[in-house]
Amino acid sequence: MNAISTPNLDELLLQAQSDIAAAAEPRAIEALRVDLLGKKGRVTDLLKSLGGMPHEQRKAFGEQVNKVKEQLSVQLETRARAIADAELERRLASETIDVTLPGRGDTAGALHPMSRTIRRIEQIFNAMGFESVQGPEIEDDWHNFQALNIPESHPARAMQDTFYALNGARLLRTHTSPVQVRTMLDRKPPIRIICPGRVYRVDFDRTHSPMFHQVEGLYVAENVGLADLKHDLQKFLSLFFEREVEALFRPSYFPFVEPGADVHIRWGDPEKGTRWLEVLGCGVIHPNVLAAVGIDPERYTGYAFGMGVERLAMLRYGVDDLRLFFNNDLRFLEQFK
Ligand code: PHE
Repeated sequence: MNAISTPNLDELLLQAQSDIAAAAEPRAIEALRVDLLGKKGRVTDLLKSLGGMPHEQRKAFGEQVNKVKEQLSVQLETRARAIADAELERRLASETIDVTLPGRGDTAGALHPMSRTIRRIEQIFNAMGFESVQGPEIEDDWHNFQALNIPESHPARAMQDTFYALNGARLLRTHTSPVQVRTMLDRKPPIRIICPGRVYRVDFDRTHSPMFHQVEGLYVAENVGLADLKHDLQKFLSLFFEREVEALFRPSYFPFVEPGADVHIRWGDPEKGTRWLEVLGCGVIHPNVLAAVGIDPERYTGYAFGMGVERLAMLRYGVDDLRLFFNNDLRFLEQFK
C-alpha cells in the first residue's frame, strides 16, 4: 500500500478545519464527523492503512494521523457546542416573555366573600369615625384573657377554648379583643377603633369553623355609655343590611363588659313569620379592663362590641353552611363576582 505523504495530511487537516468552521448547523457537523472520523471516514482510513506500512514509517505517520484525529475531534466538538449555544441565545432572545404585559385571560378574579364583607363593615365604621387597627394572631394569655378581666381558671375561658403552644405561653387569639387591649395601652382616650381579623377556637360544624373572622369595636372617651352603643350598632346594622333592621338587646354575660348584651335582629318575611337571630355581642367596658390598661375608669367610660364576619355574610348572602366559605369551591365563590 502506498504511504500517504505528510503534505497530503496537512491538506486534509486544513480543508477539514475550514469545513468545520463553515458548518452552521448540528447536522452539518455530524456529517463532517462521519466523513472524517466515522467508521469509513477519511482519517479512519488513514489509520487503517498504517498496518501495511513499513515499520519505520508507521510510527511517525501514525503519530501524525492520531494528532490530526485528536485535533479534528476537539474542533468538531467545540463547533458543535458553539452552534448549540448560538441557537439557545437566539431562542432566549426571541422567546422572552414580557411579564409586564396585561394578562389575556377572560376570567377576572374577584374578592373572596369574607374580604368583601370585612371591607363593607370597615367602610361603614370608618365613615362613623372608627379607625381600623390590626394586631398579632399569636397572642399571650395576658392580652387575650387576663387584661380582659378573665383570670386564670375563669370559667369563661372554656367558651373560648383554643390552640395553645409553648406550654400555654402563646396561643392563637380567640377574639380580636387583644388588639383593643394593645391599642388602649398605646394611646390615650378618646379612642374609637375597629379590629378586623382572623380568630381561632376549637369548634367545627355547620356554623362554626376553627378559624373565623371577627370585627370588634371599641369606643373609649368621657361619658360614653349604653345609649351610644345602642345607637351606633343600630345604625351599623341598618347600613349593613340596607334596610331598617329591628334590633333587640338581650342581657348577656361577658367578663369584660358590664352590662353586656347579645344583639338579635328580626329576620325573615313578616308575612310568613320572623325570628330573632343573634348577630353580635356588646356591652359597656368593665372598669377592671380600663384599669388593667392604665386608663382611669373614674374619668373615662366606653363600649365594646364584637361580631362574627361569617355570620353576617351568611345572613346577607343567604348562605346556610359556613364551611362553604373555606372550601375554595369555585362554583360557590364565582357567585360573588
Ligand atoms: N370578645 C367577644 C367574643 O369574641 C365579643 C365581644 C366583644 C362581646 C365586646 C362583648 C363586647 O366572644
